[in-house]
Amino acid sequence: MSSTIANREHGALWGLVDDLLGRQRLILASNRGPMEFHTGPNGELQHRRGSGGIVTALSGLTNYVDFTWIASAMGEGDRRASEEQGGKAVRSPVAGQQVSVRFVTTPRRAYHKYYNIICNPLLWFLQHYMWSSPYTPRVDAVVYDAWDTGYRLVNREFANAIVDEARGSSLRPLVMVHDYHLYLVPGMVREQLPEARIHHFLHIPWPASSYWQLLPGMIRTAICDSLCQADIVGFQAQRDVRAFLESCETFLEDVQIDYREHVVRYRGRETRVRAYPISIDVDEIRQIATSPRAAEYEERVGAELGKQTIVRVDRAEPSKNIVRGFQAYEVLLEQHPELCGNVRFLAFLVPSRTHIRQYQRYAEEIDAAVRHVNDRFGTAEWQPVRVFYENNYVQAVAGMRLYDVLLVNAVIDGMNLVAKEGPVVNTKHGVLVLSESAGAYEQLKVGALPVAPADIEGTARALYQALSMPAEERAERSRLMIESIEREDITHWLQRQLEDVKALPG
Ligand code: F6P
Repeated sequence: MSSTIANREHGALWGLVDDLLGRQRLILASNRGPMEFHTGPNGELQHRRGSGGIVTALSGLTNYVDFTWIASAMGEGDRRASEEQGGKAVRSPVAGQQVSVRFVTTPRRAYHKYYNIICNPLLWFLQHYMWSSPYTPRVDAVVYDAWDTGYRLVNREFANAIVDEARGSSLRPLVMVHDYHLYLVPGMVREQLPEARIHHFLHIPWPASSYWQLLPGMIRTAICDSLCQADIVGFQAQRDVRAFLESCETFLEDVQIDYREHVVRYRGRETRVRAYPISIDVDEIRQIATSPRAAEYEERVGAELGKQTIVRVDRAEPSKNIVRGFQAYEVLLEQHPELCGNVRFLAFLVPSRTHIRQYQRYAEEIDAAVRHVNDRFGTAEWQPVRVFYENNYVQAVAGMRLYDVLLVNAVIDGMNLVAKEGPVVNTKHGVLVLSESAGAYEQLKVGALPVAPADIEGTARALYQALSMPAEERAERSRLMIESIEREDITHWLQRQLEDVKALPG
């Protein structure tokens, strides 16, 4: 096996990788890759680590095994780097990443239809229950066209790249596909590589079949049909597993569902459907949190704290429920005027999907909500809310070290890794106020204060309870959460999936 040992600590995972990937060729595919190129001031190619949850979750795998990661060329830099390699994989220049990245380059117009019309908003909004069904979505000819000449086309290009990589090796391919961008890839790869092991993991929730029925039958059937060409389909939570099995039963013909064993039998194949709650690399985030760079940010962020501080860290994204969070804070200040001047709310928000109308509008709504609270309660000496609006992970980690209360009130979330990162880096036994519909709630309810995402009054009360909680209770709640996160960190997530791949028959 062409592997590089960077971390032998996690012996069990190492053994598994050694055993499994000595006999199989790992090819991983996700829309965003582990790194991206951009053009520097003198026209030279510069690189940086890719952003987002998938990269955070899977970068650790590069410590164990050297593999090919197939990803979309996101910008001109990626396109240039890919062209310079004649379309073949590029060795990642990012320190610590032992991986080759093969960029899938598709026509800009096709990528726009795939990403900005089908993936986000259509699928993302559907899967986070964000459509207002009497009015939206409007599935018109533009969407039909984007499905055919955007989504299908990009998925086809990914499948072709995977097949090409697989054929370059004599080992049996193990193809791990990630997320809703690539639903059609398992079916397209299966047509060409019948013997491949195919694993598809979905990072976002899978809604009830009645909600999927908002979409045309050909879309939902194509998605289920393709996913059932994988050997394993992984989800974040048991709720998603159940909903997927039910969707297959509703949308596919001649299908058998085993609800006890969580298996779908379809077109002569068996697909195992499993929950693998994703987690974080505890060691890595602790290293980042205690790095000199984080210390610099900590000093800067420290200057912004109140006597007590509420923090949130999110992409500027409607499913994160940011506006309701500020509305709850407003209710808190209204009901407890003694907190004015003493409690601050620091929001670390990352610009996201800024070409999409719904995201632009949501960013404006966030802005208006912040202005409203600051105008209503702010004084010359004290501004209740401070927003850091930039993609600066280390600064956000510094913020997480310093909170008294971390607010995660997502409408619904596959998992929400901020809810896991916060407790392990925080230095104050801060309290986590957590949406019951975040996937992370299942694990963190041992220590978190629950909120229903639409419940502004309840969120205000939970914030107050968190701010006034006795020190011993805070310490105990954070101890329980940290213990659980350390026990089931990212290594555990990877290991469980590889064990299931290893246990596949044939
Ligand atoms: O799974 C959800 C996800 O794809 C995460 O990996 C990532 O954090 C987020 O969505 C960002 O999405 P995008 O790649 O569209 O910025």
